Amino acid sequence: GPNDELNGKHVVISAGGTREPLDPVRYLGNRSSGKQGYALAAAAARRGARVTLVSTASLPLPGGVDLVKVETALELEREMKALAGGADVIVMAAAVADFRPAQVSAAKIKKGFAAGDPDAPTVELVRNPDILAGLVEARGDSRTPYIVGFAAETGDEHGDVLTHARAKLERKKCDLLVANEVGDGVTFGQDTSTVHLMRPGQEPVTVGPADKNLIADTVWDAVGQDLS
Ligand code: C5P
Repeated sequence: GPNDELNGKHVVISAGGTREPLDPVRYLGNRSSGKQGYALAAAAARRGARVTLVSTASLPLPGGVDLVKVETALELEREMKALAGGADVIVMAAAVADFRPAQVSAAKIKKGFAAGDPDAPTVELVRNPDILAGLVEARGDSRTPYIVGFAAETGDEHGDVLTHARAKLERKKCDLLVANEVGDGVTFGQDTSTVHLMRPGQEPVTVGPADKNLIADTVWDAVGQDLS
C-alpha cells in the first residue's frame, strides 16, 4: 500500500555540519543544525525502515534510529562508504565543508605576541572529497542504493534556485536532489524551510514554507514513488 515502500529497507542518512579542526580547541564549521536530517530519520523509522544516522549534531535521537557520530568530512566519508554497500537508500543531508585546514596543530594556536611573529596566522586549506559524488560513482550502473542529495541555494526568486538546482542534479547524478532555499535566517537552525524536490526528467515538486517534519514526509513520498 502507500507509504510502505520503506518498510524493512536500510536507510543511511548523514546530518549536520562537519567540523574541520584547526587545533585541539578550534574548528571551521557551518550553520547547519542537523534538524532536517533528524526529521528524515524519524520519518523513515515511522515508515518501518532500519535507519542509521551518521551525524555531527547532538540532537535528541529519534526512536529506533542507530547513531554513528562523526565530526569531520573525512570521518563522514569513511562511515558513509562503509555503510553504502548494505544500504537501500542514502540521504546526504549533511553540510560537508568543501575545504579543511591543511594542517591540524597539535597544540592550541598561540596569539603570537613574540617578537617577529606575524600579526595573524594564515590558514591554508585543502579540498575535501565530494562524498555524494563518490557514493554515486561507487554504485556504478547498479542504481542501488537510491541516493538523495541536498543543495543549499540562495536566490531572490525561485527561478534562480530552480535553475541552479537543476544544474546541480545533472552534475551530481543522484536520483533526487532536495534544493533548500537558504539565506539570512532562512532554513539553517530553523524549524521550517522551503524545498524543491528535483528528479531527472520530472517537474520539480515545491514544498513549504513548511515544518521540517512535513518536508521529510514529502521527501519519503517521492523516494517511495521511485522505489515502487
Ligand atoms: O555542491 P554542494 O555542496 O551544494 O552539494 C550539496 C550536496 O553534496 C549535499 O547532499 C552534501 O551533503 C553533498 N556534499 C558532499 N561532499 C562535499 C560537499 C557536499 O557529499 N564535499
